[in-house]
Amino acid sequence: MDGTTRMTGTRTKPFLDALNGVAVRPAPLWLMRQAGRYLPEYRALRATAPDFLGFCLNPELAAEATLQPIRRYRPDAAILFADILVLPYALGHGVRFEAGEGPVLEKLTTAAQVASLDLSRAAEVAAPVNETVRRVRAGLPEDVALIGFAGSPFTVAAYMVEGRGSRDFAAAKRLMYGEPAVFDALMDRLVEATIAYLSAQAEAGAEALMLFDSWAGVLSPMMFDRHVIVPTARIAAALKAKHPEVRLIGFPRQAGGSLIAYAEGAGVHGVGLDTAVPPAWAAMALPHSVTLQGNLDPLAVVAGGEALREETEAVLEAMGNRPWIFNLGHGVVPETPPEHVAELVALVRGRR
Ligand code: CP3
Repeated sequence: MDGTTRMTGTRTKPFLDALNGVAVRPAPLWLMRQAGRYLPEYRALRATAPDFLGFCLNPELAAEATLQPIRRYRPDAAILFADILVLPYALGHGVRFEAGEGPVLEKLTTAAQVASLDLSRAAEVAAPVNETVRRVRAGLPEDVALIGFAGSPFTVAAYMVEGRGSRDFAAAKRLMYGEPAVFDALMDRLVEATIAYLSAQAEAGAEALMLFDSWAGVLSPMMFDRHVIVPTARIAAALKAKHPEVRLIGFPRQAGGSLIAYAEGAGVHGVGLDTAVPPAWAAMALPHSVTLQGNLDPLAVVAGGEALREETEAVLEAMGNRPWIFNLGHGVVPETPPEHVAELVALVRGRR
């Protein structure tokens, strides 16, 4: 097999080939938050179900939201439509989404609250997510792969302790340093729950799984090892044992220099690069055993035109001949003009 050409006319999925170490060109592409409010068809669908968690747990609506960007852009992968906060909700933790305010959660501060997280009922509450996976898998073109996902234990724990989004997650870190036994017990539960949650998605038909560690960057190097690399490696080992064919991508956002230790030690097949990582540095410094994914600035897609072209070229250039999946450095933002996403897809596929 020629490792540098795109295989067509086979049953092969370019996205999975890239995760298996093939430098597919043009690079396979998908975008974090490729479904969502920037799409008028998403806003229309979302208007039919005002409660966001209810929307995520409705397989018909969630499958349709997953497929909307596939019809428009034909990316190489679909990502399950759900949210990282579905898992704490399934564990019985209070989670709601307020319009214009983002997520609001019950604040976790005690060992008793950790003990009350109910692993036995989580599978049942999260079951609609698996049904969404089955429906999407049945509706996808044959060369498009399906990604399931969860938040990483640290990022989910940070939201559960903090009670909402935050720039520095200071309350979460106070518990982490001040009451390590409580925080460690929470992390342990979340590792277990995440393994079960992701395994169920794999069983339902997800071919790759992604762990969103959006707030990994608030940690010191020592805490990054303890609460990001070690738990990710536990999840990766368990998934490999149960589903050896399923690929795992980690996204430790703003990990800085700890990205090297993560790529070496977290046990993932792919590493997502955030916007600030110089892609040429990543291509050089990160172990060749991992596939890289990223990392165009989402705001360059808002801008479009020359800025989009230049920023996209810089990422494509830096890839060299490493296995790489083109993506953004963080999610598509709501003010993105949908036609700029089409421009981007054409640029990456070289059809302009
Ligand atoms: O297309 C996709 O990427 C799949 C769906 C997806 C959503 N959230 C849908 C969503 C995925 C993969 C996520 C992950 C997620 N959720 C993360 C990790 C990635 C990142 O952005 O860092 C985080 C931190 C969350 C938590 C979350 N969910 C927040 C902070 C918010 C509010 C901010 C916002 O963008 O509104 C959400 C809500 C959310 N999740 C929306 C969508 C489409 C918007 C809700 C709506 O439709 O009204």
